[in-house]
Amino acid sequence: MSIDYKAEIERLKRELPVTVVGHYYQRDEVFDMADITGDSLELARKCKADNNPWVVFCGVGFMGQSVKVIAPEKRVLMPKIACCAMARMIDGSYFDDSVNYMVERGVPKENILPITYINSDATVKAKVGEMGGMVCTSSNAYKIIEKGLESGKKILFVPDRCLGQNFANSMGLKSCIIGTGECDPKEADVICFDGFCSVHQLFTLDDIEFYRNKFPDIKIAVHPECDPKIVEASDFTGSTSQLINYVNALDPNQKVAVGTEYNLVNRMRKENTYVLSSTKPECPTMNETTLEDLYLTLKSIEDDKPINEIVVDPHTVKYANLALERMLAIN
Ligand code: 13P
Ligand code: SF4
Repeated sequence: MSIDYKAEIERLKRELPVTVVGHYYQRDEVFDMADITGDSLELARKCKADNNPWVVFCGVGFMGQSVKVIAPEKRVLMPKIACCAMARMIDGSYFDDSVNYMVERGVPKENILPITYINSDATVKAKVGEMGGMVCTSSNAYKIIEKGLESGKKILFVPDRCLGQNFANSMGLKSCIIGTGECDPKEADVICFDGFCSVHQLFTLDDIEFYRNKFPDIKIAVHPECDPKIVEASDFTGSTSQLINYVNALDPNQKVAVGTEYNLVNRMRKENTYVLSSTKPECPTMNETTLEDLYLTLKSIEDDKPINEIVVDPHTVKYANLALERMLAIN
């Protein structure tokens, strides 16, 4: 007899002290089961404030890890421990190399303030925390970088070069990318690691030109993980929640093309909203989680044999927590 996953998930949620969390990029059927939804910052905040001892997080690895770091007493399970491809681009040793790159080019370590995008492993967040640095998300990067600059130090921004450069540009700051010919850390304010999101690299100037030619009054709204050229050619840039709010506030007749993950754009208002790409910009790892995975994870709590539990060692929790809490305090 086949299992009615939706009905079983609803039963398990009623009977267990568990909160199901879902990022906007999850498949619709999984997203619909979530008690808490939001962008990365909202998910971290809402999970911290939530009272249930169990969290089942439908998203990518760094998101579940962040909950474990800010609320270590919680048991955090992930239906799929799928790793964000951008977060995978940097680990502790690449982080150390980036610091050394700056030191070798004349910036003493004590003059470096690291900021890591939340899309990074807890070990990287811990290194950032140990150096007095902070985490940021796509919705608060401006504020966090602004705060970081008050220290008078150079900002080392990891891992997303696009986010780092986009916010530096919007603040009138000079930025450069580590490892590229012209990167002199002494000359720049924000020194970026060379990471990126392959999904958000799919949006091109040709896509923008196509839509602007087709509908001259169209608005273009994109996520700050897009290339700086795309952000510059757009009408609005924001986190996933900010993109949703922007589109919701538009006149229903206003056409808009949105440059972010497909599942989110597909869930926006159906009329006059377009995906800013001729391809389907799906995040492969976000799409790994299925309704069956969610059911099996909840069932494992009921059976007292939890699966896919997020474990972070105490040293990493201590310092990654510092970096995350510094961010939450600024908000
Ligand atoms: P948000 O913080 O906007 O939710 O973005 C997370 C993410 O992974 C975007 O690709
Ligand atoms: Fe990571 Fe990009 Fe997927 Fe966001 S869309 S989770 S940055 S791979």
